[in-house]
Amino acid sequence: MVHVAVLGYGTVGSGVVEVIETNHASINKKAGNEIEIKYVLDLRDFPGDPVEKVLVHDFDVILNDPEVDIVVETMGGLHPAYEFTKAALLAGKCVCSSNKELVAQYGTELMQIAAEKDINYLFEASCGGGIPIIRPLNSSLTADEIDELAGILNGTTNYILTKMTQDGSEFEDALHEAQNNGYAERNPEADIEGYDACRKIAILSSLAYGRHIDYKEVYTEGITRITATDIKYAEAIGTRIKLLASSWKVPNMEDGFYAMVCPAMIRDTNPLYSVNDVFNAIFIHGNVLGDAMFYGRGAGKLPTASAVVADVVDCAKHLHRNILLNWSTHTLNLLNIEEAENRFFVRVKGSVSERFEEVTSVFGSIQPIQVPGVSGEFAFITDKMKEKVFAEKAEQISGGIISRIRAYF
Ligand code: HSE
Repeated sequence: MVHVAVLGYGTVGSGVVEVIETNHASINKKAGNEIEIKYVLDLRDFPGDPVEKVLVHDFDVILNDPEVDIVVETMGGLHPAYEFTKAALLAGKCVCSSNKELVAQYGTELMQIAAEKDINYLFEASCGGGIPIIRPLNSSLTADEIDELAGILNGTTNYILTKMTQDGSEFEDALHEAQNNGYAERNPEADIEGYDACRKIAILSSLAYGRHIDYKEVYTEGITRITATDIKYAEAIGTRIKLLASSWKVPNMEDGFYAMVCPAMIRDTNPLYSVNDVFNAIFIHGNVLGDAMFYGRGAGKLPTASAVVADVVDCAKHLHRNILLNWSTHTLNLLNIEEAENRFFVRVKGSVSERFEEVTSVFGSIQPIQVPGVSGEFAFITDKMKEKVFAEKAEQISGGIISRIRAYF
């Protein structure tokens, strides 16, 4: 018998309990052991819920019970999740987590403790919800040197951008709709400002490239400045705007990696073009594999719980043996994003006839883009140039530019 304690009976924690109950027989068979939930920790009471039989309010009950082999951390937030996780690992208990904030901030330290104790700290559900991505990176793709990751890693913003594309709505209206449908949090800052996707790309990149990447080094822009007019232009040129989280290696430069989160226009030839609504997808390029893509539900109670329970099964199979993770304690410093090269979609005020000469004198030859229903402005797409060169050129446009979005094509 393997005893499990679940910290936090919220959406994901209650999903974990439900999945373990629903698929009890097949999960036990795959784990080669009987998995039983001995405790659920939550500050609240749940009168009438069968969870009451195993509900505790004091973490020390779990910590001091030698029968508890695996702790599931589905509390979210940094504190006290960090303290509880660390204490559990130091007490020799495996921990499975869905907490991307915690993994991005303290994952390196927690993994090291697990390795020293010959137990496991696993976090499949922290990126891409129910999509298997951590385990493939860590075990299926070990023959490859990964040189690129690009993903739609946040369901809320993908839902908002999909709504704006389908309905022609403005950002605020699509956000309210996402909130009313229960997708976006009441405080949606982490999603719409790109912070959530930033943590996830830092986690995936640390695993893919084998060293700790500090999420605070990842250049991050959210979707709050995307407007219905930007979407009109995007459609007119056969593209969609997606919040992309990406990281890539500069060819022939040892340890030369960039990472960034930003809205980007992509064409239908990009495999991420058709990833809509709350779905997530992660594109990977390996030097021997070539391209691969992982697609599925990036959030939600049962998909996320499915990933957490898969980690519980893995822990049960390796109770006293550390599964080596390709994420060392050494830090990989990212290159300065100002040196990265991109193309840019740019909107400027005025008519083409008035401003063509000025714009071409700054950006070189351009093809003006105009869309029906949008007057007093036009747009164009630049050649590939360094981020810092683009910023300098944009400054030279008199009165400034209206907006710019990276064009990934
Ligand atoms: N807020 C996250 C999202 C939940 O919208 O993708 C899953 O991490």
